[in-house]
Amino acid sequence: MKRPYRIHFIAALLALPFGACQEEKADSSSNESSTVSDSNAIKEEPFGTIDGQEVQLYTLTNENGVVAKIMNYGGIVVSFIAPDKDGNLADVVLGFDSADEYVSKESPYFGCIAGRYANRIAKGKFTIDGKEYTLATNNDPNHLHGGDKGFDKRIWDAEPKMTPDGPSLKLHRVSPDGEEGYPGNLDTTVTYTLTDDNGLKIDYEATTDKPTVLNLTNHSYFNLGGHGSGTILDHELMIAADRYTPIDATSIPLGDLPSVEGTPFDFRKPTPIGARIGEDNEQLKNGLGYDHNFVIKDSRDGKLQLVATVHDPDSGRLLEVESDEPGLQLYVGNFLPKDDPMQGKDGKTYGYREAFCLEAQTFPDSPNQTQFPSPVLRPGETYHQTTIYRLGVK
Ligand code: BGC
Repeated sequence: MKRPYRIHFIAALLALPFGACQEEKADSSSNESSTVSDSNAIKEEPFGTIDGQEVQLYTLTNENGVVAKIMNYGGIVVSFIAPDKDGNLADVVLGFDSADEYVSKESPYFGCIAGRYANRIAKGKFTIDGKEYTLATNNDPNHLHGGDKGFDKRIWDAEPKMTPDGPSLKLHRVSPDGEEGYPGNLDTTVTYTLTDDNGLKIDYEATTDKPTVLNLTNHSYFNLGGHGSGTILDHELMIAADRYTPIDATSIPLGDLPSVEGTPFDFRKPTPIGARIGEDNEQLKNGLGYDHNFVIKDSRDGKLQLVATVHDPDSGRLLEVESDEPGLQLYVGNFLPKDDPMQGKDGKTYGYREAFCLEAQTFPDSPNQTQFPSPVLRPGETYHQTTIYRLGVK
């Protein structure tokens, strides 16, 4: 895959030392050097207390001074800081200043690992091998993002490590049999690696001791102009999908996979997110805007491919998303507050449609829709997923 803009990005970085950046500074003390030593590449600091347990924030810095901050509560990506076309740094994901605020402000899944089953399961019910399971209907009348206390609200064991690909953070947790109603002890590892081509690579792995269903994703809310910089409606989005999964009024897929051709869901060529969002379209009404799963073209198990790009013409920042998953949920902050914006990090506020999520996943409600790729994981099998969010400029 050719990525000419990466060359421009590196050229911009070389042309402008971080000392000259105006908005924010990279969290690295060795900006002049072309390599980052291990001690500068990974930092660990306390980030608050949840359920009486101290939460740690891990700051990963790559050779270019790009920074990803991740905490072990919810595996949440708290910050992702990268330059614009002029070298000015900004944090391009929404979040809060401390772990506690994610609880007290009822974070709408900012940056987290969503699981065990990201997205919705109709009426919170599914059947495996003839046995019915009942989950929380925390998004009335459906189950959403793993239930009342999903993977986003758990403290994970964390192991930061320098790797040949860049600084990384390995998160591990065993979700006990029956947790949130799901069967099987689920042993899950999620590894974040900040690569030297400015990708935040997320590798997921899981095994179970009973047949279960699983759908893991990352729920980062991006604004390529910088968090709190206004709406994302001008961002130009490309999704490599000829088809999508239309939904009913409760956001459960209807089951068919119609073509995007001639609809506001055709993002095969880069198109501003806001260009068609106000059209009189039943699907846009059901999702209150874009809140839909796209069927990734030519997706095959284990094949990592470019599934989406987003370009912000103002800042020049470009996000590339690569994944081996068959689906991609586009959500554009339709439920961020319209009137009374949320107070976020660094004194910034977040309102309606001021961020987008691109959640690599299997299809929503697939435990109940056998025509969709199966989300069932059985003992002896290993679930694998890789998704990369890569930042550059164009
Ligand atoms: C869902 C939205 C939901 C949001 C929660 C998205 O993944 O598709 O419907 O409101 O998560 O923040």
